[in-house]
Amino acid sequence: MGKFRKWLTRLGMVAFCFSDAKGSYILPNLRDISGCPGYTLTNVVHVHSPPSSAIIGDLILAGDPCDAYGDDLKHLRLSVDYEDETRIHLKIWDASRQRYEVPESVLPRPSNKDIQASASQITLNYTASPFTFQVVRRSTNEILFDTSRHPLIFEPQYWRIKTDLPPNANLYGLGEHTDSFRLPTYNHTRTLWSRDSPGVPPGTNLYGNHPIYFEHRKGGTHGVFLRNSNAMDVKLDDLYDRTTLEFNVIGGIIDLYFLAGSESSPAEAAKQYSDIVGRPAEIPYWSLGFHQCRWGYSDFVEVAHVISNYSSSGIPLETMWIDIDYMNDFKIFTADPEYFPTARLREIVDYLHLRNQHFVLMVDPAVGYLPGENYQTFDRGVQDDIFLKNPNGSYHLSIVWPGVTVYPDWFHPNITEFWNNEFKLFFDPATGIDIDGVWIDMNEPASFCLYPCLDPFEQAREQDRPPPRPASPPKPDTPIFQHDNTFTIQPRGGFEKRSLLAPDYVPKNSFGTLSEKTAHVTAVHHNGLKEYDTHNLYGTMMSAATRRAMLARRPKERPFIITRSTFAGAGSHVGKWLGDNLSTWAQYRFSIAGMLGMASIYQIPMVGSDVCGFGGNVTVDLCARWATLGAFNPFFRNHNIEHTLGQEFYLWDLTTEAAKKAIDMRYRLLDYIYTAFHRASVDGSPVLSPLWFKYPADEKTWDIDLQFLYGDSILVSPVTEEGSTSVDIYLPDDIFYDFLTLAPVRGHGTTITLKDISLVDIPVHIVGGSVIPLRVSGAMTTTALRTKDFALVVAPGLDGEAQGSLYIDDGTSLVQDAISDISISYRLGKVSLTGSFAYSSGVKLASVIVLGLEEAPLVVLASSGGVSLGELDVRFDEQNGYTVITVDRPLDHHLDLVFEV
Ligand code: NOJ
Repeated sequence: MGKFRKWLTRLGMVAFCFSDAKGSYILPNLRDISGCPGYTLTNVVHVHSPPSSAIIGDLILAGDPCDAYGDDLKHLRLSVDYEDETRIHLKIWDASRQRYEVPESVLPRPSNKDIQASASQITLNYTASPFTFQVVRRSTNEILFDTSRHPLIFEPQYWRIKTDLPPNANLYGLGEHTDSFRLPTYNHTRTLWSRDSPGVPPGTNLYGNHPIYFEHRKGGTHGVFLRNSNAMDVKLDDLYDRTTLEFNVIGGIIDLYFLAGSESSPAEAAKQYSDIVGRPAEIPYWSLGFHQCRWGYSDFVEVAHVISNYSSSGIPLETMWIDIDYMNDFKIFTADPEYFPTARLREIVDYLHLRNQHFVLMVDPAVGYLPGENYQTFDRGVQDDIFLKNPNGSYHLSIVWPGVTVYPDWFHPNITEFWNNEFKLFFDPATGIDIDGVWIDMNEPASFCLYPCLDPFEQAREQDRPPPRPASPPKPDTPIFQHDNTFTIQPRGGFEKRSLLAPDYVPKNSFGTLSEKTAHVTAVHHNGLKEYDTHNLYGTMMSAATRRAMLARRPKERPFIITRSTFAGAGSHVGKWLGDNLSTWAQYRFSIAGMLGMASIYQIPMVGSDVCGFGGNVTVDLCARWATLGAFNPFFRNHNIEHTLGQEFYLWDLTTEAAKKAIDMRYRLLDYIYTAFHRASVDGSPVLSPLWFKYPADEKTWDIDLQFLYGDSILVSPVTEEGSTSVDIYLPDDIFYDFLTLAPVRGHGTTITLKDISLVDIPVHIVGGSVIPLRVSGAMTTTALRTKDFALVVAPGLDGEAQGSLYIDDGTSLVQDAISDISISYRLGKVSLTGSFAYSSGVKLASVIVLGLEEAPLVVLASSGGVSLGELDVRFDEQNGYTVITVDRPLDHHLDLVFEV
């Protein structure tokens, strides 16, 4: 049998040698692993004294090696730690050699309380030989993770851990992907390897990597996180009586965190995940405004026109973006002297700032390789020695927009100084371009050089990079506005020799070989780490460096950064957009699941798709619908590709109307969602969530991903079909209220059809049991919005009660001098506002609107701190059953309103 396997192995290798680079993964992975012997656990000791439940032990190969994708390791080490009441950490590594693991400088480890197993909500039980284990929820005895039938396999460039799960398991996560939010479990592979992924096709690996899944059952929701950045295939399959899930990974160590989640509140799993990857960074208030972008604005005049057109059409534009077009021959940290001269860009920035609008530019990682051409960013990079290298010490060359390029090495000790300095010089408010936020792209890292990329110069010529400018530049004096770290890794040398370019097990990268269209796996960082291991971290390391650089420019302000590639933990540095989608109805629908993944699982709540779609020409109907959905994207930006028709909202009457209506709804809700962002930064509470987070016991919600909760109390149910003016929506057994009419809608756990939804409308409901703070009206900028008074909408649940909160601060500072954090509750005819009111917002509480009343309260008395403020004005809307109570008092103090009937 051993010989047969060796023969198969050789056959695989032969096939690998003769197949071309693309698609070569198919044959080598056909190895027989059924007879792999597993390991025996011995020498188990308790590591702490007085003894906690943490153990450490040896795992010894339990029989003849199977050598499926390399020689089985003979001796492993295991540790199991009960880190806190909700978390178990299991680690398995090679006892005799050092192996790569995700550096703590990139993803810090959580603190370890090292508790007794008896105090934990989950326990890990094992069988010593062959070593297998089960993770069990103590309260229900449910087995959450079970390797009993699947002994461990551990080879230098392949390891596998596999669990049985209940049949047709409800699994979510393992992104980034364009698959359904509830993952398909039949013969489904999720490959994790960052990839520039035009069109973001379903079933492929995309830009980011999040090896975390939540599994949901009637008895609870739990999470499993694999802290590993190597290329991997996570395979899901349905057998007769069970689902299986297996991690097939080509490097690193087994580094699993089991999160207990909760029996009844799925959001707890999200919060627990934020304990290990970090909480989302607080965002500036203005970044929740509407953003306009496109690739292909030809010059500064066109950009100025877009800004003016938004203002003349009355659509609030908060932030104008420019893509790579502004760069001189696409070199980062340069501006084209004819098409986008710095002086004219400065004029645009001044114009925007004067009107309380904002400005964002793109920065790519790749630096044009231009020795001797006085390209200072490149020259300084050479001087600081910060570029990624080949094993022989030469620069690792690739091709991006400017032609042949080099990549910054984010592990280099000089990188912070280099990147900070480039930001300081180019974005200097006094002499350069004073950006408010930055957009970082192509950081998988992407390359256009086809593997093996032997002559990047020749390929760049063939690809005509950089392309010439298409039209003649505007006259320089054209009037434009017509109207008013240092990273360290654990000191662990002695890596084994590996075949980086041709591992026996090849994950299913949709580009074929792992080095295709990216930095090659052999590229070496300054600290000796290889791209083979760290590739998936590149975008997140660029994100962290960019955050440091933005902070160095404006040390007191929250940076606003949007990235394309992410790894676990990215949300603590940046927000993210979903990349190069298409202007199709299918992609409009997929965008919801994409956002849900980022916001409810991966802890990256500042997320949105390219509204109206990136690739292709959008139809006016789709763009109108997408404008309304976009208003409920946490990050709301219209963006498209070059050489396609414009899709700015003002271009059509229909999209103008849709955008105005939707932005008005969004802006009135802006403090509600800002409050949700604040909560996320404090404890990881999800900013968006699927319906099942709120109704976990309702099976019919488990695979819904075309409706979602914006914050935890606004249900968004967009029309999703082309040509349709109706939508079938599921309403759980609960009470809801129409956002616009405020009329109650009783849900009965059935699907209902909403009809006659025009192209400029989107169905939105308030979930019963909540209090929603609203600004009384929208505004053209978020600065103006902050001067508007508040109304509180009290939407009682079936039990007649409601809760909500409102967080207010200055919207930009990293450290706040004073905040207001107000809890609002409604019970038995009494509305109470309590908490802190220290931030002086200068606005009033205009009114309290109580929904779902059968008749008007006769008298509403107000009091503050026990002191009566008298009787308030009441108006009752009979048709929709709500009462408007005029309060009109500064929002600066504890307040009670009591109904007398
Ligand atoms: C790729 C990005 O995904 C896209 O949004 C951008 O427009 C282009 N790069 C050009 O910079």
